[in-house]
Amino acid sequence: MGYFITFEGIEGCGKTTQIRMLAERLKAAGRRVTLTREPGGCAIADKIRGILLDADNQAMLPQAELLLYAAARAQHVGEVVKPALDEGGVVLCDRFTDATIAYQSNGRGLGRETVDTLNNLACGDVRPDLTVLIDCDPVLGLERARRRIDASSGPREERFELEALAFHQRVREGYLALAAGEPHRFLTVNGSDPVELVAAAITRQVEARLGEQYHAVR
Ligand code: TMP
Repeated sequence: MGYFITFEGIEGCGKTTQIRMLAERLKAAGRRVTLTREPGGCAIADKIRGILLDADNQAMLPQAELLLYAAARAQHVGEVVKPALDEGGVVLCDRFTDATIAYQSNGRGLGRETVDTLNNLACGDVRPDLTVLIDCDPVLGLERARRRIDASSGPREERFELEALAFHQRVREGYLALAAGEPHRFLTVNGSDPVELVAAAITRQVEARLGEQYHAVR
């Protein structure tokens, strides 16, 4: 069985930079690494991502949004995450089930039980071993996310960035509550710290978790 690490946080917290840095470090250490993301990570889920993040889809109902995230996740877990873990690799995933709790339950106000049921349906027995939460003030995060979107030449994936600040504050609080409830699974780092400092804290924790195995292949 492999090792499953998820990265979470609000828009613009810096998780995509950090997950890439960790992937490079683990690969350099000889690990078999699968770097993936949600929503998306495989062809069918990427199509669903397009619908979910399209800023033209402002009329999407929270229930439809939740079901689309669950559908994308079921496909991604079955096609990418589970096979990679079964082969003994390290899987790094940019967002996973905690995002659905923070965004659709805390953010949108959908019932936690419904969200948990759909997460369980989509994941089967796949659960993160470690979740890195990059905590960040939504004012700073949204400013960074807007700069990134403006600089990108691809589709404007900004349906969530257009939400009010209060929405992102609820999402942040949702994440912090999850981390407080499962301190062993979560590593919470400060997203306003310098990138290298955050990366060092994450690497230390991952090295400790992967333990003997990690050092053996170094
Ligand atoms: P990204 O910007 O990190 O690629 O994430 C895409 C957006 O999707 C982000 O605004 C958070 C949102 N999201 C949810 O609302 N629920 C989920 O379950 C996931 C995985 C992402």
